[in-house]
Amino acid sequence: MNQMKEVSSGEMLSLCKRRGFIYPAYEIYGGIAGLYDYGPLGTALKGNIADLWRRTYVLQEGFVEIDGDTIGPEAVFKASGHVDNFADLSVTCKACGESFRADHLAKGLHPNPDSLSIEELQGLLRANGVRCPCGGEFADVEEFNLMFKTKIGPGAGRTGYLRPETAQSIFVNYINLYRHCRERLPFGCIQVGRGYRNEISPRQGVIRLREFNMMEAELFVDPEDKSWPRYGRIKDRKVRLVPNTDGVEVEMGIGEAVDRGIIGNETLAYFIWVTYDFLTAVGIDPARLRFRQHLKAEMAHYASDCWDAEALISFGWTEIVGIADRGCWDLSQHMRFSKADLTAFKRFDEPKEVERDAIRPKFGAIGPRFKGAAGDIKRQMEAMDASAIHDGLVTVIVDGTPVDLDADHYDVVRVREKVNGVRVVPHVIEPSHGLDRILYSCLEHAYAERDGYVTLRLRPAVAPIKVGVFPLMAKDGMEEVAKALDLALREEGIATYYDDSGSIGRRYARMDEVGTPWCVTVDYDTLEKGDVTIRDRDTAEQARVPADDVVAWVKDRLKHGLVC
Ligand code: GLY
Repeated sequence: MNQMKEVSSGEMLSLCKRRGFIYPAYEIYGGIAGLYDYGPLGTALKGNIADLWRRTYVLQEGFVEIDGDTIGPEAVFKASGHVDNFADLSVTCKACGESFRADHLAKGLHPNPDSLSIEELQGLLRANGVRCPCGGEFADVEEFNLMFKTKIGPGAGRTGYLRPETAQSIFVNYINLYRHCRERLPFGCIQVGRGYRNEISPRQGVIRLREFNMMEAELFVDPEDKSWPRYGRIKDRKVRLVPNTDGVEVEMGIGEAVDRGIIGNETLAYFIWVTYDFLTAVGIDPARLRFRQHLKAEMAHYASDCWDAEALISFGWTEIVGIADRGCWDLSQHMRFSKADLTAFKRFDEPKEVERDAIRPKFGAIGPRFKGAAGDIKRQMEAMDASAIHDGLVTVIVDGTPVDLDADHYDVVRVREKVNGVRVVPHVIEPSHGLDRILYSCLEHAYAERDGYVTLRLRPAVAPIKVGVFPLMAKDGMEEVAKALDLALREEGIATYYDDSGSIGRRYARMDEVGTPWCVTVDYDTLEKGDVTIRDRDTAEQARVPADDVVAWVKDRLKHGLVC
């Protein structure tokens, strides 16, 4: 039997490189920190994890999926807050010029350096005499924006950025998606794709990357109703929580955490559970998984509540998923910057009589000034109410251009009217998954040894190779039978590895080391009786199975029920 074993990041990354999971990028040119490539097995593992995630969100939860651009114009990231707020604090050595994340240098000096202001961090580093590993003195702590900036088009071009999160492609498509989802809340959209962050000093393998893979789900909900229809089915399930009130880890039912106000609402809680279920299904060890609530000072600029799924790996407790209540931040900001209507219509059960402050255009001022366009401007203004006034101005579109009109052009009047519903800015609940981190944590949590040999106990559903197929010897017809079996498996979409070289023990060891759950050996008995040996990676036990039943045998074990 193999023994689970803690592995160092050095050992893990060395195995990853040797066996084709992960390669340092541009190695023949000396490599670049924070950039890695996936090799053949890593690519397959990543694809399998992403497929299971899609299955959870699209098939189980009914989300739709898009594939957005990874580059966007400045206005998008001005609106999202990333141009102004998306920075880490950095310090640079005056002697050697190397830069470091200031909060990382303060680890061990403060329980949560990530939550400190620039002045607080500066003070802490100075008070403790923190110096560069080269012995040099640090310059002042400064903010460093993490986005990669570029130009879209030639010449002066338009300023653009590589997206720091996939989420923005979903928010800017809100109108299209709202229509696609029949103009009803709640609806959700997912995206699997690349994000880019120009990390200050990435030194943690694939845990901190400058180009990384995300799996993000954006769920648009009624701001006044954050209940979730399937919540009742999971509310008694238990997870390990670290609330931000006292930072003490507790195991608690999801429902109890909502009832006690620890998790803010049912929807957030439901997706904490979905995240737990997904992560454990792909191979994260439940004993090394917890959900930690962000401190208020630690939360991203858009979040009103946020829980990180953290896995315990060789780098310590590491965020692998963030589940945030983004409130109305994103859609409100994009409405403000783009002037598009990013609301949803909430229909009442019965029409209601309501009072509102409506805007009434003053024709005496608008007619002479705008002439032929006056009728259209009047319609635009009549559709507004007083909440559209900003700094005493209302903005209308004239020939495609926004024009601000002052109070000489409108009155505000209180009106009573019957309405069928109201327009609301939906809130967003976002489970955001770091695919590279999940993949790496799965590898560490799968690491085991037997008799000094490494076995990766990857879940069969995500293992890059499902079956090793071997003829005992490449002679006497065994090779032909093994090749036919290999082809039959691949025709059914089951990834195999055919190997006829070296001892059987060595072939098993090669498959164990890359996490292949089963190996099938064709031997002399196969030629006589028609059965083969199937050897189990985790127990090393062997069973005889008719060769004709092997495909069904494997398919049966690969069947993966929907996550909950
Ligand atoms: N969208 C979540 C994040 O950027 O981390």
